[in-house]
Amino acid sequence: MIEFRGVSKRYPDGTVAVRDFSLTIAAHEVVVLVGSSGSGKTTLLRMVNRMTDPTSGQVLIDGNDVATQKAVALRRRIGYVMQNTGLMPHFTIAENIATVPRLTGRTRRESRSRALELMATVGLDLAIADRHPGQLSGGQAQRVGVARALAAEPNILLMDEPFGAVDPIVRADLQRELIRLQQELDKTVVFVTHDIDEAFLLGDRIVILENEGVVAQAGTPNEIIESPANDFVAALTGTTDGSRALRIRRTATGAVVVDASGRTRGVLDEDDRP
Ligand SMILES: Nc1ncnc2c1ncn2[C@@H]1O[C@H](COP(=O)(O)OP(=O)(O)OP(=O)(O)O)[C@@H](O)[C@H]1O
Ligand SMILES: [Mg+2]
Repeated sequence: MIEFRGVSKRYPDGTVAVRDFSLTIAAHEVVVLVGSSGSGKTTLLRMVNRMTDPTSGQVLIDGNDVATQKAVALRRRIGYVMQNTGLMPHFTIAENIATVPRLTGRTRRESRSRALELMATVGLDLAIADRHPGQLSGGQAQRVGVARALAAEPNILLMDEPFGAVDPIVRADLQRELIRLQQELDKTVVFVTHDIDEAFLLGDRIVILENEGVVAQAGTPNEIIESPANDFVAALTGTTDGSRALRIRRTATGAVVVDASGRTRGVLDEDDRP
């Protein structure tokens, strides 16, 4: 369980990135933080593994304040997929993935075999193990980032816009893989994105942030679509401009549901109609 208790962050130059943010994330839950650029998402995520310390308030993991724990040890046991992959350019792919196992005392051979195992887990071709990050496609690099985060066998996975820098097809692929992986691994995941559709797809619960980490609404995808808390949420989720509207269209064989772009999204099951 992760608890943010009234955390705020003011950077030394005076910028207020987060103002009085509170949230409790249950074990094994996937929570997605959604907000526009500069709303404090990365700052919040980095408070969990002490890459950033809050100016006030506390972050607790399973009831223990992270401020009382050694930052280095904490970072090694929490998986972190950085916003721009953060791979080390002079290390091979296998070496990048094996960083934490090496640091925690596994032998070179053990670490390499663990790295290869993780490459398979995230759907990477083992043939690229000895390449360098500069020789990968964007989608491959993102998968390496996920494999590296899993290497420490963490209970908690922090993912900062991990699928941001790839085309929509690769992105959909990575999203499906993550859903499959999470069914298997069952981690506590804090996932950051500015894409509301990605949030609806991946999150058990979604937290919509306005500037300075102010929570506009927190809830399940259903709750947010069915009752947006304010105009900001309604606009972000497309309930004001009709972009999420679905309509029923009669066909010769029954009725189908059509989205705002005119695309047929499914067949209406007449038995379930009120
Ligand atoms: N080291 C820093 N020093 C000063 N201000 C910072 C620092 N890091 C972030 N900020 C500021 O804090 C605010 C929140 O930044 P943060 O990186 O958490 O936002 P974000 O939601 O992750 O944005 P993005 O979607 O662009 O990644 C921004 O105004 C940013 O400019
Ligand atoms: Mg960010």
